[in-house]
Amino acid sequence: MSRKKIVAGNWKMNKTPSEAENLVRELIPMVEGADVDVVVCVPFTDICAVSALTKGTNIAVGAQNMHFEESGAYTGEISADMLLELGVKYVVLGHSERRQYFAETCETVNKKAKVALAKGLVPIVCCGESLAERELGVTAELVRSQVKKAFAGISAQDAAKVVIAYEPIWAIGTGKTATAQQANEVCAVIRGVIAELYGQETADVIRIQYGGSMNESNAAELMGQSDIDGGLIGGASLKAGSFAQIVKYKG
Ligand code: PGA
Repeated sequence: MSRKKIVAGNWKMNKTPSEAENLVRELIPMVEGADVDVVVCVPFTDICAVSALTKGTNIAVGAQNMHFEESGAYTGEISADMLLELGVKYVVLGHSERRQYFAETCETVNKKAKVALAKGLVPIVCCGESLAERELGVTAELVRSQVKKAFAGISAQDAAKVVIAYEPIWAIGTGKTATAQQANEVCAVIRGVIAELYGQETADVIRIQYGGSMNESNAAELMGQSDIDGGLIGGASLKAGSFAQIVKYKG
């Protein structure tokens, strides 16, 4: 089976629109012709500029969150339609920083994933354990539960379109990467849950990324694992050269 790899930058709360333009201008020629799907998940305020610049290139634009309601009195929130009109294709949902700092729950992630799919956006659904949870030996249980809750009520046909990002919280922004074996082990657990929920065919096509201090030096080893189909890249996506090297990890 061949799953096309997907490398997505998660810029988090970095880059003003003009800084975003500079970064993307640099990036476009560097990732041209890449054999992976290339995505940049940018702050809402950068979407307009980045969408305009990447039109007709192989770089797709993603958002880092959205609301599950269509419209209405939700001050400070952004809807799927607002993203779609700006050319957004992907949306990161349930990143651990949103769960930790902004009260995102498995339930809201599920609601958002359903709306994203109904609207034609590709959700990048994040899951992953904290250091305490890993040390307690509950990583597999926890990730299984996060995935089951995120996919509740989603059809097999839609599930196959979702990208899952396994991001151990202790590896995010810390410089501590999970070993390729540790990362692959959990990605295999995730694929196993998808097989239980939807059957092997869906499990074989769904793409599972690893995220957490992935960089140009460890990308090839991580993405060379049997169940790792790409990366969600934070820090290293803020420099065009580093991100491009990850995209072109095969050299
Ligand atoms: P990092 O972030 O690459 O800076 O560890 C990854 C993420 O949080 O998506």
